[in-house]
Amino acid sequence: MKRGVVGIAGVAAILAALLMEAADRPEADGPQYTAEGQLVRPNNYREWVYLSSGLGMTYGPVAEAARDGNPMFDNVFVNPTAYQAFMATGKWPDKTIFVLEVRASGSKASINNGGRFQSNLAGIEAEVKDEKRFPSKWAFFGFGASASPAKMLPTTAQCYSCHSTNGAVDNTFVQFYPTLLDVAKSKGTLNAKAAQAETTDQAVDVVCKMGVDPKTALKAEYKGKTYYFCQPACKDNFEGSPETYLTAEK
Ligand code: HEC
Repeated sequence: MKRGVVGIAGVAAILAALLMEAADRPEADGPQYTAEGQLVRPNNYREWVYLSSGLGMTYGPVAEAARDGNPMFDNVFVNPTAYQAFMATGKWPDKTIFVLEVRASGSKASINNGGRFQSNLAGIEAEVKDEKRFPSKWAFFGFGASASPAKMLPTTAQCYSCHSTNGAVDNTFVQFYPTLLDVAKSKGTLNAKAAQAETTDQAVDVVCKMGVDPKTALKAEYKGKTYYFCQPACKDNFEGSPETYLTAEK
């Protein structure tokens, strides 16, 4: 009898543990903190969703080494749960976590003669959206090349102002992640500044297919419609035989 009771209690405990795990699962890839509130470095970030790489466009402390002809690569990853939410809504949910992995670049090794490939890890930075924990909702962290947890960078760090002023969607640089940019455009979640930048380049030169700003571009009227050109040669070509370009458009 006693054994039976233990057995039932044991099964109940296992069930409770499984249920708790299931409840945790949606956020299982979200930010984890130590008891002191430091961010634990997510060791499996390379299994997350890869957004894009920049070459020579690093900022902050790791940027210093990037000068002098050795541009660094940065690779951006986001946790899968946040990625799925972004694809559905064009917005970052609470508990989004990004990793920016910065790597040195090399050239002329093995069979490579030109171009640049990625090499040693220079550092890892993270950006977390945790609405209850951080007064400004987002917080930044620098791990360097170490696997130890990192303290939140103070809100006076440049990370905060550059990201909030220039990021196209909610503090983040979606304008540089080509597949996400299309999602944000279609869901209408670009902030006003980014949306404005997208629309000022609205017109396309029908001759060379370059994007042009209708406010400053050369113009020609044809059958009641205005066409815009990047240079006089394009305008001349168009005016010489407009139908050629307009049929090619269709
Ligand atoms: C001068 C502007 C600027 C500053 C300062 C800056 N960043 Fe960024 N950050 C960018 C840009 C631009 C990107 C776009 C991705 C790239 O570089 O490839 C980016 C991307 C990121 C990303 C990927 C997610 C996102 O928001 O798009 C993280 C994480 C990140 N930065 C962390 C940091 C941290 C940590 C600091 C401070 C130590 C910092 N950044 C300072 C401009 C800045």
